[in-house]
Amino acid sequence: MELFSTVADALDRIGEVSTTAELDLLDSQILGRNSPIGAIRRQLGQLPVEDRPTAGARLNEAVEQINAALTARRSQLASSEADRLLASDAVDVTAEVWTLRPGNEHLLQRTVDEVCDIFVGLGYRVAEGPEAELAWYNFDALNTPPHHPARAESDTLYVEFGNPADEVLLRTQTSPMQVRYMEKHEPPVYVLVPGKTFRSDAIDATHLPVFHQIEGLAVDENIKFSDLKGTLAHFAREFFGPKQRIRLRPHFFPFTEPSAELDVSCFVCDGTGCKLCGESGWLEMAGCGMVDPNVLDISGYDSRQVSGFAFGMGTERLAMVRHGIADIRVFIENDLRVLRQFR
Ligand code: DAH
Repeated sequence: MELFSTVADALDRIGEVSTTAELDLLDSQILGRNSPIGAIRRQLGQLPVEDRPTAGARLNEAVEQINAALTARRSQLASSEADRLLASDAVDVTAEVWTLRPGNEHLLQRTVDEVCDIFVGLGYRVAEGPEAELAWYNFDALNTPPHHPARAESDTLYVEFGNPADEVLLRTQTSPMQVRYMEKHEPPVYVLVPGKTFRSDAIDATHLPVFHQIEGLAVDENIKFSDLKGTLAHFAREFFGPKQRIRLRPHFFPFTEPSAELDVSCFVCDGTGCKLCGESGWLEMAGCGMVDPNVLDISGYDSRQVSGFAFGMGTERLAMVRHGIADIRVFIENDLRVLRQFR
């Protein structure tokens, strides 16, 4: 009777454990030396000799029954534990994952970098200059007469206005760095100057009051107009691709003589004429020319010893032509759907 209730109790407890670790513990509690089964086994020796075989056999049967239950329960628990592990380990491929999207440079910065790379490949250095500039560097040192229309307050944003000797303005062009650079460096000079420029313009599809230019200056012995043309042609092929054609159209700038404008064939009509290029087939890309001897002399160079060429390109314009962007305002609107297209 005692054995029967011990076995029944053991089987109940085996059914109740929920992990294999608990089961291992229970195993020794049920069958070990100090368990009820252990106690019954010890009592066997005190039974009359003739009763021992039967009692022994019953005990062994009970132990086998318990062992069978332990084994069955163990394999049950093991498989459900494996199931649980599998379930908790599973990857839900439909779950939305929160990731940090890598950013990218603004298209204008990329354009500046690409232009700089091309000219660095030709041996140019890259320099930067002040955005608030003396009227002297922006105009006078660049051979611009006192009453030039660009100097008017309606065109130029002044920080200090009135006394021509110490007027300060937001530079209208990157060209003042030509003089600043020559003042600080001996010839030969091959330098590229990217930067912000400012004009008192109303915003429309082709104008921003804050825009960018990239200035180039080369001064050396015996620099000729053909050097300018070859350099710009090389640049246009590298930047726009071999399909784009260029032309130099005569123009006037106070600080270059002769002066020209660089045109690149229109990306919309491929040069046949359309609304964008005003039916001309060409898009204006840069001003350029041979550095006026006055500018060389004012900068401390000897215009009888050295000559040079210079050019100034609109950075926004370069990017617009290159990527077929029709409205300059996309550069300042910070619409990520637009900016992300230019990775
Ligand atoms: N600074 C001129 C502008 O903003 C562009 C320019 C013309 C730059 C001729 C030059 C140059 O270096 O040689 O319109």
